[in-house]
Amino acid sequence: MMISLKFLLCCLLVSSCAYATIVSHDGRAITIDGHRRVLLSGSIHYPRSTTEMWPDLIKKGKEGGLDAIETYVFWNAHEPTRRQYDFSGNLDLIRFLKTIQDEGMYGVLRIGPYVCAEWNYGGFPVWLHNMPGMEFRTTNTAFMNEMQNFTTMIVEMVKKEKLFASQGGPIILAQIENEYGNVIGSYGEAGKAYIKWCANMANSLDVGIPWIMCQQDDAPQPMLNTCNGYYCDNFTPNNPNTPKMWTENWTGWYKNWGGKDPHRTTEDVAFAVARFFQRGGTFQNYYMYHGGTNFDRTAGGPYITTTYDYDAPLDEFGNLNQPKYGHLKQLHDVLHAMEKTLTYGNISTVDFGNLVTATVYKTEEGSSCFIGNVNETSDAKINFQGTFYDVPAWSVSILPDCKNETYNTAKINTQTSVMVKNANEAENEPSTLKWSWRPENIDNVLLKGKGESTMRQLFDQKVVSNDESDYLWYMTTVNLKEQDPVWGKNMSLRINSTAHVLHAFVNGQHIGNYRAENGKFHYVFEQDAKFNPGANVITLLSITVGLPNYGAFFENVPAGITGPVFIIGRNGDETVVKDLSTHKWSYKTGLSGFENQLFSSESPSTWSGESVPFNRTMTWYKTTFKAPLGSEPVVVDLLGLGKGTAWINGNNIGRYWPAFLAEIDGCSAECNYRGAYYAEKCQTNCGEPTQRWYHVPRSFLNSDGDNTLVLFEEIGGNPSLVNFQTIGVGNVCANVYEKNVLELSCNGKPISSIKFASFGNPGGNCGSFEKGTCEASNDAAAILTQECVGKEKCSIDVSEKKFGAAECGGLAKRLAVEAIC
Ligand code: GAL
Repeated sequence: MMISLKFLLCCLLVSSCAYATIVSHDGRAITIDGHRRVLLSGSIHYPRSTTEMWPDLIKKGKEGGLDAIETYVFWNAHEPTRRQYDFSGNLDLIRFLKTIQDEGMYGVLRIGPYVCAEWNYGGFPVWLHNMPGMEFRTTNTAFMNEMQNFTTMIVEMVKKEKLFASQGGPIILAQIENEYGNVIGSYGEAGKAYIKWCANMANSLDVGIPWIMCQQDDAPQPMLNTCNGYYCDNFTPNNPNTPKMWTENWTGWYKNWGGKDPHRTTEDVAFAVARFFQRGGTFQNYYMYHGGTNFDRTAGGPYITTTYDYDAPLDEFGNLNQPKYGHLKQLHDVLHAMEKTLTYGNISTVDFGNLVTATVYKTEEGSSCFIGNVNETSDAKINFQGTFYDVPAWSVSILPDCKNETYNTAKINTQTSVMVKNANEAENEPSTLKWSWRPENIDNVLLKGKGESTMRQLFDQKVVSNDESDYLWYMTTVNLKEQDPVWGKNMSLRINSTAHVLHAFVNGQHIGNYRAENGKFHYVFEQDAKFNPGANVITLLSITVGLPNYGAFFENVPAGITGPVFIIGRNGDETVVKDLSTHKWSYKTGLSGFENQLFSSESPSTWSGESVPFNRTMTWYKTTFKAPLGSEPVVVDLLGLGKGTAWINGNNIGRYWPAFLAEIDGCSAECNYRGAYYAEKCQTNCGEPTQRWYHVPRSFLNSDGDNTLVLFEEIGGNPSLVNFQTIGVGNVCANVYEKNVLELSCNGKPISSIKFASFGNPGGNCGSFEKGTCEASNDAAAILTQECVGKEKCSIDVSEKKFGAAECGGLAKRLAVEAIC
């Protein structure tokens, strides 16, 4: 009510109010222009794709049955230096929001500005950490000023473009903070005061639409507290006037270096959504709907991979992840068709025992029903209002008219697409790119201990380098005499380190490197070293692989060589330790090749095509290639390389690390959708490079002419296997129950043949289908060949009418198909 009054007031002042949309809410739902809505939404983060990809991604969201697109706003990307802003390229937030508007969709703007999101430092700029007296996410004046400054600026930008619904724009909801409730306990009373301040600050910005706070049980009114997680059907908001809303339904999970590929089944995602709506939910958002790519140094961490595919309904490259996309689209259509009864109906439930319940939504005009079976093992056969229904374990059936089941979350009637990679046909010999190389120049300066600044202390990497680079050199010179107590036969260097990756050099010799195990970023590195009487130069290179993004006080987790650093001398039983921590340390941020922009196509530096070295640390490689033909997404296979960064025509496509293999154990070929999902369930890719393929957006490529790939290889690798490929649908499969319509599509390519088809009770899975014990009289393969081959898509009525009678003894009949694209 408050909001509409406020709106009316602002309506008098704003000229465009004729087109304004009143977004309000009551205990049941978000209402738009007075109508309660069922809202389905999906997260797409604008910087995780390119501007050229946005229209297609958003359109696919709409076609997938979404009403809204949700995005965070990424503070550190927009304000890389204090009060210097960047909204260019894929950071063009306004353009992204306008693309949503052009598609006729709503937007949900999660300003944060803390976002978590597996994004570097959770979206906080590192300069913020380095401001005097700074404490994050609490009642700290310096922090609150900066947060308010950024939040206000974003709100003003959006207002200026009239993008809030109250101004006639697409944005219906805005978010302040993010999951603070998960950590508030660590901040004591100040935390409670901070969240009140956040609410007041947000409220004072007069956006004319509701504000949400996710995972915030004590969200002060009028903030709407919402739920995040794999399941939110049990969630109850903290105020009877707040509708039950779900801001993050995790469609899969993210990947770490050394981690496996997570998969969340389609059946389980659909089950979670249907349960939520069965139990009174009205707004649901997929996190992620399109995950995309952590280009450049945007990955959070430590150790978040470059790919942020997330097993989302749209894959990293923007292709439909089938059957997830299609099965959810059907669910959205069913839920939308029930909007009236779901949002206005009286709710009653019938308990059948054994975790089976039916929920009836009833209005004067009609009713809609759900039958949920939360039992993890037993399928249910129940008599509901005089009709028998089979409800598989861990599934929900939806009966829009309370009679006919039109959807069951565990019965997938959408195609499965098997994606394949194809060689680059624009190259004659795609696997033999011609390479030239250059060494990273470290010998003359760094290994001699000469940096940019000196301090008698070991500092956190964030403090020294402001996170302008992954690389920070720590150097010191130690004078040793043979008479020194530490002088001994066996000498070593011992480093207490929080560098994610460390390289150590003594007197120009690389004595070793270390890669922290994920989760164990505080370790002691010790290596034998040869010291000389006189001056000895110790050069340590600390490397970060994404700054932390989650947890109370994550901003203070140390990174770099925080010390102490010792020289250890041993003579027989005696061990002498010399502490170098308060020595004069010289610092240098970055690498010279980055400074000299060796990655830029225009770089004038000389490269050598002679004796291109393999397995050489700190080495730059360069090659040219032709863009793959066609329009399918492009990836570069970096198998054989170690760790580093890759650029295409000067665009940083992210950190690569194929040498980091995924854990060997814990993968499963079979994946049971029944039972609660957790990130370690249903993983694949054990023992393989964590990430081998890297997305090269088409807009980074020249379609005619040469393209340049530059690699900076840090630990040593072999580029001879590197090659470009395209990704497309290889074949499609389906296993559809009768009385459904099957849509087959090769994503814009013609269907070239039907490999298998049978209507009856076929067995097996995609790639291994076989005929069952009963089969319809007509030749299913011939029918499909006639109706589908040569076409980009076809629709098949799965029925006896089409395929002929099949005597399957009362079993529900299915059509199994495998088609080649
Ligand atoms: C949530 C957070 C998101 C994202 C997600 C995991 O806790 O709000 O930003 O980090 O976890 O992918």
